[in-house]
Amino acid sequence: MSDHAIKFRYLSQEDLIKAGAFNMPMALAAVERSLVQFKKGEILFPEKIVQEFDEVYKDRINCLPATLCNEKICGVKWVSVFPRNPRLYGTQNLSAIIVLSHIVKGYPVCVMDGTLCSNMRVAAIGATAAKYLAREDAESIGFIGAGEQAKMHLLGMKAVRPGLKLCRVAAQYAHEEQGFIDALQPLFPDMEFVACNTELEDAIRDSDIIVTATSAQAPLLKPEWVKKGAFYSHVGGYECDYGVITMADKLVCDDWDVVKHRLSTITRVYKAGLISDEDITGNLVDLITGDCKGRENDDEFIVFTAAGLSYVDVAIAYDMFQKAEAVNAGKMLPMQEQMVFEHEDLEKYVVL
Ligand SMILES: NC(=O)c1ccc[n+]([C@@H]2O[C@H](COP(=O)([O-])OP(=O)(O)OC[C@H]3O[C@@H](n4cnc5c(N)ncnc54)[C@H](O)[C@@H]3O)[C@@H](O)[C@H]2O)c1
Repeated sequence: MSDHAIKFRYLSQEDLIKAGAFNMPMALAAVERSLVQFKKGEILFPEKIVQEFDEVYKDRINCLPATLCNEKICGVKWVSVFPRNPRLYGTQNLSAIIVLSHIVKGYPVCVMDGTLCSNMRVAAIGATAAKYLAREDAESIGFIGAGEQAKMHLLGMKAVRPGLKLCRVAAQYAHEEQGFIDALQPLFPDMEFVACNTELEDAIRDSDIIVTATSAQAPLLKPEWVKKGAFYSHVGGYECDYGVITMADKLVCDDWDVVKHRLSTITRVYKAGLISDEDITGNLVDLITGDCKGRENDDEFIVFTAAGLSYVDVAIAYDMFQKAEAVNAGKMLPMQEQMVFEHEDLEKYVVL
């Protein structure tokens, strides 16, 4: 190969898992680090590009770029969200691919599966919020939704609240609840799992931590089910009764300026004039930097909503890449061996 060769590392999801990159503490550290870097102006974060293909079901592919200036890494997540996939095809809703480029020469260094990273980011953000906002002595967690985000959330929550020992789950179909338990019981053999047979209330009542991670666009979670002192991570779009938001003692977001323009329950409540900007306690980063107080007593009910900040995906992806590179995981693929006009016998191949 000439000096003009460009190659990059290709990492499948299996490469990443075997390289030890499915590492929740690593993702949690990347969340805190990148949120602080963004606050300090050390991350470029342009607007995402959204292409929506179905108005009702919101099938979409989004292009989300970000640059970690300190690390000299620019990344992009190309993510598909097709909420009907599980029902129509028995396949996952979300799939993603991530490209990382070094910004010294600008060449790509890695093309990797982005589904693992993306799902880990969603969970790690919710779990970081729980670290600052859930009761220290939380023992029970209740899920509405048993899909990929819900499963990953349990890994995140357990990492920040190792005292969790009871997990209840309710979904649209009972077989999904069983799938959730079958996937997670081996990872947490000491945890008691309860399938709630689609009774959402049973999953929530008496839970110290509540997670809704559904593809529904409906007020599933009701205020009267919520235990005093609970922490609630709202992951999906429209998932809870407006009363859940208005009864909260604290409302925290990953970034309120971003959430405000999305279609989350809190945004609906805001647009309905039931809450104002002043009712938002702060952004997650403000808890990390100590500019804003987290939980102040055991009775507060605190709601966290995430819009999804893709610079955090890029930060996690870069850590995953470095972990994989250290053990030479994946494949090095050539993008080019020479510059275009350096190829021999070009006249044989060029079509004029
Ligand atoms: N906030 C973020 O950063 C972020 C990132 C990725 C995905 N999401 C959102 O998270 C949500 C879940 O994504 P996923 O990948 O886990 O999807 P998934 O399809 O794997 O799971 C969806 C779950 O929702 C449940 N559900 C749907 N309708 C329901 C109802 N009426 N009652 C009870 N349960 C119901 C299903 O039973 C299923 O368990 C989606 O809305 C997705 O857009 C948010």
